[in-house]
Amino acid sequence: MNDNSLKNMYIHTIGCQMNVYDSERIARDMKAAGYDLTQSVSAADLIVLNTCAIREKAEQKVFSFLGRLADLKKKKPELIIAVGGCVAQQEGRKIISRIPYVDVVFGTSAIGRLPNLVRQAKSRRRRIVDVELAEKIEEAENTAEYPDAVTGFVTIMQGCDNYCSYCVVPYVRGREMSRTPENIIAEIRSLVSMGLREVTLLGQNVNSYGKKEKLCSFPDLLARINEIEGIRRIRFTTSHPKDLSDELIHAFRDLDKLCGHIHLPVQSGSDHILKLMNRKYSGEQYLEKVVGLRKINPEIAITSDIIVGFPGETESDFNDTLNLIRRVAYDGLFAFKYSDRPNAPAACFPDKVPEEKKKERLQTVLDVQAVFTLDKNEAMVGKTEEILVEGPSRKQPDVNENTESDSEFQWSGRTSANKIVNFSEEGQIFCDRNFKGRMIRVRIDRAFPHSLRGTPVYIEPPECKPS
Ligand code: SAH
Ligand code: SF4
Ligand code: F3S
Repeated sequence: MNDNSLKNMYIHTIGCQMNVYDSERIARDMKAAGYDLTQSVSAADLIVLNTCAIREKAEQKVFSFLGRLADLKKKKPELIIAVGGCVAQQEGRKIISRIPYVDVVFGTSAIGRLPNLVRQAKSRRRRIVDVELAEKIEEAENTAEYPDAVTGFVTIMQGCDNYCSYCVVPYVRGREMSRTPENIIAEIRSLVSMGLREVTLLGQNVNSYGKKEKLCSFPDLLARINEIEGIRRIRFTTSHPKDLSDELIHAFRDLDKLCGHIHLPVQSGSDHILKLMNRKYSGEQYLEKVVGLRKINPEIAITSDIIVGFPGETESDFNDTLNLIRRVAYDGLFAFKYSDRPNAPAACFPDKVPEEKKKERLQTVLDVQAVFTLDKNEAMVGKTEEILVEGPSRKQPDVNENTESDSEFQWSGRTSANKIVNFSEEGQIFCDRNFKGRMIRVRIDRAFPHSLRGTPVYIEPPECKPS
């Protein structure tokens, strides 16, 4: 920086876990450049908006956030506003035409260059746009700092080559590229040394990890991560059903740290729509994968994504989706109304489904799933589960979920199947009351639509740390 005084930076992140991971890197890199994180927009000298382009609604959020900054920028002209991520990649310079007080537009490959871009914008007092997509993976240099978290993300691959006809990701994140196992393992080891206990590996389709670069297979990578001392749990997302191999299914039996949950987005239950979506599997082929997973691990939790109202989706197609949801009986799902995206071929497909119809179908999917989610949670009552405690429960007190003890302090963790369990400290046998990062066995007492409540039956002693 030109001046040595510490500055404040506010980061707002929209979108998927990859953006969360990227924002963590932005925070680290910018800290090294003299910017400390602040939770206050008005105290910021630099505002970074990390954006998502997956649906129109996500894109609208970007422009409404930027619109709200107009007054602040007027009052504080030296404030730097930087827009990054998928909308930045998609729109480039057009963002500045629309919002002239944006100083920096940086694409999905330009994250590592942000400190330099901000410096240039400040010293040259001009707008900077950097949206060149990289052709090879650029490794972060600065991993020295990380928030004190028990769980965290590590991106193992970037981009996507699948070109589902509705999806913007291949255009905004570029071609699929995998990081080397050595770099991934080194990053996880470093995070473990800072307290990380659970890692979620990120990629748009982890099943094709390493194939192009002829690195190792994804199950091999998992096996290597499973050996890292100090890591207690491994999760990953997302897995494309067309590439879900038997080898990966077997990993759920063979790797003790791999959690019993898979996010396996089906998108639709209609073969006709799946073909239009370019998903490359049929409803029956998908169901065979589900049977294979449950044969290996009958307890495995399966979740999914559904798009309703894809162009040409008839009542009969939609019923096929509902039937598939019922046949799988998912543990949970995310459902979205189809949204036209720039570049994605489906934007030009005929027979668009009216908005009202999409809304109605979305509600039907959510209603059908809600029954399964609650049933699955209720089936847990009376069982004993091991959870990794992530910290204090986020909703405190939860008036809807606690009838007797509304104001009671609760800890929160997740089961291997990724279900949230809250518990109180009542009757604890250890005087050390910091449960964060510890594995606890809890008896599940009550089930709610989105969480469980339990009582600890065994708490592992705190890790010995040299004094
Ligand atoms: N790579 C992941 C998906 C990433 S996007 C995969 O293949 O599963 C997350 C989800 O957003 C998708 O699974 C899909 O359900 C939804 N989505 C993507 N594009 C969409 C669009 N144009 N309209 C509505 N939902 C969309
Ligand atoms: Fe998009 Fe399909 Fe790639 Fe997922 S697999 S990111 S839905 S193109
Ligand atoms: Fe959104 Fe980009 Fe992720 S479009 S879903 S932030 S890859």
